[in-house]
Amino acid sequence: MAGEKNVETTGLLGWVDARFPLTSTWKAHLSEYYAPKNFNFWYFFGSLALLVLVIQIVTGIFLVMHYKPDAERAFQSVEYIMREVPWGWLVRYMHSTGASMFFVVVYLHMLRGLFYGSYRKPRELVWIFGVAIFLCLMAEAFMGYLLPWGQMSYWGAQVIVNLFSAIPFVGPDLALLIRGDYVVSDATLNRFFSFHVIAVPLVLLGLVAAHIVALHEVGSNNPDGIEIKAKKDERGIPLDGIPFHPYYSVHDLFGVAIFLMIFSAIVFFGPEMGGYFLEYNNFIPADPLKTPPHIAPVWYFTPFYSMLRATTSDFTAVLSVLSVLGALWIFLRARIGFAAKAGFAGLLIVIAVLMQVFDAKFWGVVMMGGTVVILFFLPWLDNSPVKSIRYRPGWHKVLYAIFIVNFLMLGFLGTQPPSDAYNIMSQVGTLIYVAFFLLMPIWSRLGTFKQVPERVTFSAH
Ligand code: HEM
Repeated sequence: MAGEKNVETTGLLGWVDARFPLTSTWKAHLSEYYAPKNFNFWYFFGSLALLVLVIQIVTGIFLVMHYKPDAERAFQSVEYIMREVPWGWLVRYMHSTGASMFFVVVYLHMLRGLFYGSYRKPRELVWIFGVAIFLCLMAEAFMGYLLPWGQMSYWGAQVIVNLFSAIPFVGPDLALLIRGDYVVSDATLNRFFSFHVIAVPLVLLGLVAAHIVALHEVGSNNPDGIEIKAKKDERGIPLDGIPFHPYYSVHDLFGVAIFLMIFSAIVFFGPEMGGYFLEYNNFIPADPLKTPPHIAPVWYFTPFYSMLRATTSDFTAVLSVLSVLGALWIFLRARIGFAAKAGFAGLLIVIAVLMQVFDAKFWGVVMMGGTVVILFFLPWLDNSPVKSIRYRPGWHKVLYAIFIVNFLMLGFLGTQPPSDAYNIMSQVGTLIYVAFFLLMPIWSRLGTFKQVPERVTFSAH
């Protein structure tokens, strides 16, 4: 690379640059990566997710030095880390708090994408890599949770792995393959350990790299949803762009400082977070002979867990009816070609029938998986003529607000023991969640949109 313009040719840096694209990479991704000048606090969460990723890997490395992936010794080894290993309590609390904070940060990061239409063209791949990261993160957290081998670890894994056995034909064999045994046991602990410490983190790191490379290829979106690359100066630099370094490196450091204050406050003063970050039942060693009265996953899974529990046989009957009505609507009213009509309507009818053929437990699993997988399709579900929520009709904002409150409600319901009233609420919540996405192609283009300005809106403060 040395010899090309903008690259050092002398000294140590010149020597390195002749052999490795150091300066050019620094420039392309930091000092000459032009980001929109109107980023707000929502743009902290990408760098914070990177920070938490590093915290998890570093603390994880130290935990593995003392942790024993053995059903006879795992629980004791965690207690040993907490009581005997110098600073072991700190490393462990940082890791357990990091797990929950990862989800806090990533949920906010995804919400920002939703608000500003950051998943829309040309950032579809950035989003798709993001959803893949989210799936990996869920797998990572689920397998990590088995490792302390407490009652919740054990029974949570038992319940979730059993779900796979509801899949028609292959389910029981699949569950056996995942567990490595007929019940969750030492074999399960060993394979979850192996996946948690190496396999999934490797995939996660690869996906995060792909996520950022894809983002830097197309450039960042911004709160106005305006493409800054559309207006450049004579040097080819976007008029509304500023170099990421030093402007946003400093901006992000501010976010890091605030985050670390909150993170430390939790680690030092409330690492259990009232039983949400560390569940009380998990301070009891796993006992395969004693099922706890109430089994619930950790808070970040509970919205999806609620939707799983909501899918009872009554609910699949309602869904079948809705699918048939949807098919009718498509056939009579949708403004698409005949072949597409026949395809979509036919699919809905088949789903309506299959819902009555297979067990509701299976559809619960489909619901839980489907409500995450649907996120992959977001770039093609949103038909709005503008990207950012700022220029959408007021009632779109109301829909977003309902979606958020509903997601929080589902999260709360998932932590509670089931009851008739809660079950109906989860079913309504599930319908709202699914309708938000499935009806998006229709509602997203309705209403009066505001004029999007030519240039980003920004006032220096
Ligand atoms: C380990 C997890 C993740 C890391 C480390 C990460 C990192 C980043 C970073 C550093 C940025 C640029 C800074 C910013 O815009 O905030 C970014 C942007 C973005 N990320 Fe992520 N991300 C993660 C997960 C996700 C997930 C789960 C999604 C969505 C499902 C997602 C979607 C996006 C989108 C759409 C952008 C572009 C935003 C824009 O330009 O407005 N990311 N990510």
